[in-house]
Amino acid sequence: MKEFFPNILCCKYLLNSIKRLGLVIFCLCFMFIYGTYFFRTSTSRQPKSDLDNYTFDYLIENDICENVPYLLILVHSASNHFEHRNVIRETMGNPGGKLPSIKVAFLLAITEDLQDKIWEENQKHADIIQGNFVDSYRNLTYKHAMGLSWASSNCNRTKYIMKMDDDIFVDIYQLVDYIKNKLGDLHLQKNIACYYQRSMPVVRDTVSKWYVSKTEYQSDTFDDYCSGWAYITTPKVAGLLYEAVKKLPFFWVDDVHLTGSAAQVAGVGRIRLNQLYALETDGLLDWTRSKAELRWDKVFAPTWGDLDLSRRAHKKARMCHNRLCKCCYRKPTTPRPTTSSTTVKGSAQLIVFPIH
Ligand SMILES: *[C@@H]1O[C@H](CO)[C@@H](O)[C@H](O)[C@H]1NC(C)=O
Ligand SMILES: *[C@@H]1O[C@H](CO)[C@@H](O)[C@H](O)[C@H]1NC(C)=O
Ligand SMILES: *[C@@H]1O[C@H](CO)[C@@H](O)[C@H](O)[C@H]1NC(C)=O
Repeated sequence: MKEFFPNILCCKYLLNSIKRLGLVIFCLCFMFIYGTYFFRTSTSRQPKSDLDNYTFDYLIENDICENVPYLLILVHSASNHFEHRNVIRETMGNPGGKLPSIKVAFLLAITEDLQDKIWEENQKHADIIQGNFVDSYRNLTYKHAMGLSWASSNCNRTKYIMKMDDDIFVDIYQLVDYIKNKLGDLHLQKNIACYYQRSMPVVRDTVSKWYVSKTEYQSDTFDDYCSGWAYITTPKVAGLLYEAVKKLPFFWVDDVHLTGSAAQVAGVGRIRLNQLYALETDGLLDWTRSKAELRWDKVFAPTWGDLDLSRRAHKKARMCHNRLCKCCYRKPTTPRPTTSSTTVKGSAQLIVFPIH
């Protein structure tokens, strides 16, 4: 017995050690599994669909950049805006004159009952890119990422791209002039030229249509970003933004997310062209009505969907291009508003801007 005693002791000791070790291993495993789970759910939101990976299938796609346009215009368009698209085709999409080649791509997504009409429209014009997600306001980030992704992989020899909404007037003649004479030197391989929004407050008023919750966006001011009304960049930057957005948790305010947060991650800079933007429609109306043969001192303006105004303004712009109008028409001065800031609806969010 005596000889065995130490052995029994030893066995007991060993057994206890194994038990303890087992417990420790069990605890470690538990912590690891729990930790992984906790980490995943707390820092990155669970993918809700394939879209969270920003991989798109296209219901309709066209080789729009086949002949390498100088400028590709990506237009965010609502499915039912058939006439908006026609106006853009007739105006910016077909400017005539001695302009370098310009192509338009309309970015659409899925709507329930319009698919036949969209097929038909595409048969005629072959200028639609339609993604495999539901077309909705809260999916605009997908539309935006899709456009950038598509342009960077299908148009990489195209010199410039402009992203715009379908209710914005662009004086395409002045724009091309501006790109050729000014933007060429501004390194658009690393930058976006745009209406630059700095330190914009996030709307926390729950009854507002533009309300953004703390979970959706932590900070009380947005990352500096470019208004999605219209901005100009290159396919290279489009590719950088697309790669960057995949690393971020989803956020639905598309211009903030792509040209703000993703641009920051991608190291893409912004060039301020704010002086070329009118933020209300009345200046565009005045210039279009005016008999004076003067160019407007703006290039971009909202039309809020007034298609007739878009057509008339384009006609005036073309006339000015053909007759080499002098600079510049300025809106007759009206009394200044008493407040130092005012608010307009962007297509994607509230734009609060200082009067300048
Ligand atoms: C999306 O990403 C997740 C995680 O990386 C992966 O498991 C999943 O297969 C991806 N889905 C697609 C459609 O690529
Ligand atoms: C966005 O698109 C996805 C995919 O089609 C869809 O499941 C989702 O409901 C859409 N989101 C909204 C807010 O419409
Ligand atoms: C453009 O894309 C093609 C293939 O899609 C690639 O071979 C080429 O290197 C790209 N060019 C540039 C300038 O990125």
